[in-house]
Amino acid sequence: MRSLVTLDHIHKQHRLGDQIVHALLDVSLKIDRGEFVAIMGPSGSGKSTLLSILGCLDHPSRGRYLLDDEDVFVQSKVRLSELRNRRIGFIFQNFNLLPRLTALENVGLPLFYRREPLRNPTARARAALEQVGLGGRMHHVPAQLSGGEQQRVAVARAIVNGPDLLLADEPTGALDTSTRDAILALLGELQCAGLTVVLVTHDSEVAACAWRTIRLRDGAIVGN
Ligand SMILES: Nc1ncnc2c1ncn2[C@@H]1O[C@H](COP(=O)(O)OP(=O)(O)O)[C@@H](O)[C@H]1O
Ligand SMILES: [Mg+2]
Repeated sequence: MRSLVTLDHIHKQHRLGDQIVHALLDVSLKIDRGEFVAIMGPSGSGKSTLLSILGCLDHPSRGRYLLDDEDVFVQSKVRLSELRNRRIGFIFQNFNLLPRLTALENVGLPLFYRREPLRNPTARARAALEQVGLGGRMHHVPAQLSGGEQQRVAVARAIVNGPDLLLADEPTGALDTSTRDAILALLGELQCAGLTVVLVTHDSEVAACAWRTIRLRDGAIVGN
């Protein structure tokens, strides 16, 4: 069976003045459909860079990324943004919700960027909020929601277009342990429903929920 994600010899360099920083150094990995993978490593080891490349938010300096059988970084800009919109969901430590929009409007945003619009985008956004247990908070703005509820809204926004891959950068880093566990349970449910989850964490209890942990050090994989 073909992997959902194949990274082949990915390098990422940043230029800082006349210095070159190697954020990723020859990273190769495969992730199968339906896996739950944790990425761990010290600060500065390249975790966020790896996640941005997996999320097609950033281009590598070298190397190849296959998502199913699509060679991601040879696609046109238009196809790349369509890939991001339809096949990949992203959640962040600080939720990244738009503060003036309600939960329902935040979740509906990715639906407006689809190339073929939906007949009833509001119904789709509502269903995603119900799926994360926030059916009763549709019209609240982020400031009226707890941290855990805001992260649930962010999860609903990430899954509203039915992606294959959910990428999470320290998704529980801003939450207390019981809220953390509830968000992890939600990610576990989504995985059971077929989503592939890749999550960056510092927390070994979070990583313990994953099937597999990829360890990075100085931009290279040191354990897999
Ligand atoms: N835009 C950038 N410009 C220069 N250096 C960067 C940039 N982004 C990341 N880096 C460097 O790349 C390395 C990896 O960063 P990052 O992926 O953010 O690590 P992590 O998420 O593991 O803390 C670090 O040394 C960081 O300083
Ligand atoms: Mg980081």
